Amino acid sequence: MNAAIYPGTFDPLTFGHLDVIERAARIFDRLVVAVGINASKKPLFSIEERMDLVRQVTAHIPNVDVDSFEGLLVEYCRRKEIHALIRGLRAFSDFEYEFQMALTNRKLAPEIETIFLMPKETHSYLSSSMVRGIAAMGGNIDDFVPVQVRDALAKTVKPR
Ligand code: COA
Repeated sequence: MNAAIYPGTFDPLTFGHLDVIERAARIFDRLVVAVGINASKKPLFSIEERMDLVRQVTAHIPNVDVDSFEGLLVEYCRRKEIHALIRGLRAFSDFEYEFQMALTNRKLAPEIETIFLMPKETHSYLSSSMVRGIAAMGGNIDDFVPVQVRDALAKTVKPR
């Protein structure tokens, strides 16, 4: 079976992430969305909340599974026996970070290939921190995140 992993922090998932998930799920037989327990970031949503939101929002895509991972991404891929890694490239500004990460991962695990997908151009400026910031100031985020994420943000952040 042709499978891939789409890793990220997803704090929270946006329409940009969903667009990448839908594209990858059309290419691969199975897509694992791997939510990172990222010790270097202080996520607003817990790992369970982030996974639950990804699950709800991708419920209509039958070949998508949601999982969590901690530690080195390539070790997680090896444990899962999946050799394709999906990352989204939104704009040129993403390139340097993604290039560094892809080549580091290749050095650590040459058998794992990173594949870049571009989200729809209308989502190319989106980021999770921007969405969190707008929600915290009581702004309208309907165009940026699915309704389940909007409702979760409304419960979690107290607009100033
Ligand atoms: N649509 C919208 N936003 C997107 C996006 C898309 N398609 N693609 C990326 N982003 C945004 C996210 O919203 C997030 O925004 P924020 O910083 O404002 O919150 C930002 O881009 C980065 O998010 P994400 O894609 O979740 O990546 P990340 O940098 O948080 O995590 C991991 C990347 C988890 C894959 C990486 O840290 C990792 O592999 N960690 C494990 C440790 C490891 O193996 N290290 C060695 C590898 S170098």
